[in-house]
Amino acid sequence: MSLTISNEQLQAAATQYGTPLYVYHAEKITAQHQQLQKAFEGVYTRFFYACKALTNISVLKHIQSIGCNIDCSSINEVYLALKAGFNPEQILYTSNGIAFEEIIAAVEAGVSVNIDSLSNLEKFGKAYGSRYPVGIRLRPNIMAGGNLKISTGHNGSKFGIPLEQLDDILSLKNQYQLRINCLHVHTGSEIKDVDVFIKVADIFFDLVPHFQDLQVLDMGGGFKVPYQSNEKGTDIPLLAKKVGEVLNKFETTYGKKFQVWFEPGKYLVSECGYLITSVNVIKETPSVLFAGINSGFNHLIRPMFYEAYHHIRNISNPNGPIKNYAVTGNICETDNFAWDRPINEIRENDLLVIDNAGAYGFEMGSNYNSRFLPAQVLYKEGQMRLIRKRDTMEDILKNQIELN
Ligand code: LLP
Repeated sequence: MSLTISNEQLQAAATQYGTPLYVYHAEKITAQHQQLQKAFEGVYTRFFYACKALTNISVLKHIQSIGCNIDCSSINEVYLALKAGFNPEQILYTSNGIAFEEIIAAVEAGVSVNIDSLSNLEKFGKAYGSRYPVGIRLRPNIMAGGNLKISTGHNGSKFGIPLEQLDDILSLKNQYQLRINCLHVHTGSEIKDVDVFIKVADIFFDLVPHFQDLQVLDMGGGFKVPYQSNEKGTDIPLLAKKVGEVLNKFETTYGKKFQVWFEPGKYLVSECGYLITSVNVIKETPSVLFAGINSGFNHLIRPMFYEAYHHIRNISNPNGPIKNYAVTGNICETDNFAWDRPINEIRENDLLVIDNAGAYGFEMGSNYNSRFLPAQVLYKEGQMRLIRKRDTMEDILKNQIELN
């Protein structure tokens, strides 16, 4: 079973469903999950898919079917996870900056909850005391991750309770007899250096004596996947080895076994995804050769928002001479997918495929310029199946109220 989708299959999908089109390879997701499980065999861990990366219900059902757990960042994601068949014990809700009502709803749903502010922790104490276990998201003051927008652990970040406020956490814990069973840290996305996770483990190590109910050390997500051919992702086997060693140290020092949780998003679903677009316009100007495609940052915002690199291929002319292109969208605003990018010669109506489009692609899409969100297809067991229809004008108008 190939873990990539061939050009012919992508072309066939484009013919059948039209473009722009997101296609996801289910078995690639399975393979990524298996890689994690294999690397961490014998290390006491659980993996929770950070579903904010891609929440199509059919993708969630696939991920549930392969035995992965799920990490949610809103109560609606919790409800989607339940609908997809995850049981509450498999669901983690790591909240950030939310109204306390959402935490009540998460408790009512029976899922694990990580709280990231003293204010919500106090409300939790008042509402539940020791009746419901709770996790704490900490801010370790570590700078990590691919760029500032996706770094969450540094000392200017809104995420988590700063370590300096440990005393406040402990006094709330004592006042309300909180059963703090999990410590959580997520320092950012695209973390290549495994030692970042080990630094976090060292922080946890010093905190253990303060939390007698502690069972789980949640190190968040953020494993890097390669977006460029010369790039390397996080060395997962090395990470597993180091985490295993650290866990042994915890056990020998504290005489207690802790479980490590991870919340990978990109690692599970980035590489499985392809955005197929077609070329509307070739515009040759004195300085730049533009290929204008029938998409934009309303479908994949990562290049414009994070200056993220996505590989772009011309599957209609894979052996054509290489030329340098600015690949742009059709949004009425600058919306490059690439600047000065060598690609096989592009002609109008050619199909361009954007790789690594599974994570934070469709999910961060919008109807800007009143354009439709793309359709989505899941490639599973050798078959392409539609998992979301392309928008129509009805969708654009669905919640609008037309006044007379
Ligand atoms: N856990 C928590 C608490 C998170 O906030 C995130 C991502 C993850 C896990 C998963 O991180 P991952 O394994 O996917 O790196 N839209 C950005 C990425 C933002 C990530 C937000 N939080 C992008 O497209 O690069």
